[in-house]
Amino acid sequence: MTSSEIWDAETARTYDTPGEGMFAPEVLDPAVDRLAELAAGGRALEFAVGTGRVAVPLSERGVPVAGIELSEAMIERLRAKVDESVIPVVQGDMATARVEGEFSLVYVVYNSISNLVTQDEQVECFRNAAAHLGPGGRFAVELGVPGITHTSPGTGAAVFAVKPGYMGVDVYDVLNQRLVSHHFRFDEGRRARLGRSSQRYVWPSELDLMARLAGFELESRHADWRGAEFTAESRSHVSVYRLPA
Ligand SMILES: C[S@@+](CC[C@H](N)C(=O)[O-])C[C@H]1O[C@@H](n2cnc3c(N)ncnc32)[C@H](O)[C@@H]1O
Repeated sequence: MTSSEIWDAETARTYDTPGEGMFAPEVLDPAVDRLAELAAGGRALEFAVGTGRVAVPLSERGVPVAGIELSEAMIERLRAKVDESVIPVVQGDMATARVEGEFSLVYVVYNSISNLVTQDEQVECFRNAAAHLGPGGRFAVELGVPGITHTSPGTGAAVFAVKPGYMGVDVYDVLNQRLVSHHFRFDEGRRARLGRSSQRYVWPSELDLMARLAGFELESRHADWRGAEFTAESRSHVSVYRLPA
């Protein structure tokens, strides 16, 4: 499935879960707090801004925010919350699209960089972030650590979430460094709805190398937005890259 097929009107319609899941205050508030701090009084640009889950509260904190987003349907949902004068968005690919002006922070959260399914596109994404930043500008990336060590023997598949009415299974393609996330949603009946998304998984070390190719240095890496230590057990990380001042 292509990104346009995945991030269609149906996905956009059901994306927001106000107050719950990725929209729960305990998930969202620490991210917004940290991003506001990283913006350090300047403008912020979100790659793959989606429906504005993060951009809207960040802008409400007084940080001027702009976005780049591929999906028209996701942008429409964002527009139902704030208009263009508050959060301007360029519809396009985060690896190549340009937004007017200079920023002190570019960020891409919730694994969105893995929607770019080739190494070349991911490298271009780092270069595009650098091109939007002034000296000393930061690029923050929130991304899962590849769960390949959690696959069950002989299957190449790892269950990443089980909760009432939902099961998530990642299937790894090691040769091409890709995975397909399978989201099964079901009720008491026999039928389930399946959503799938293709991603390119990346180890933190490869991200660091992409950053260096674009002129960045790693400033910090934590396991979450609250600043928990990143360890061998961490399932996700928030990495902050910085251009020379
Ligand atoms: C998991 S959602 C994250 C949305 C938002 N950042 C958030 O945290 O809720 C991933 C987003 O990436 C967008 N996307 C996928 N490929 C993209 C690309 N190449 N360039 C820009 N956006 C892209 C999708 O349309 C979708 O809105």
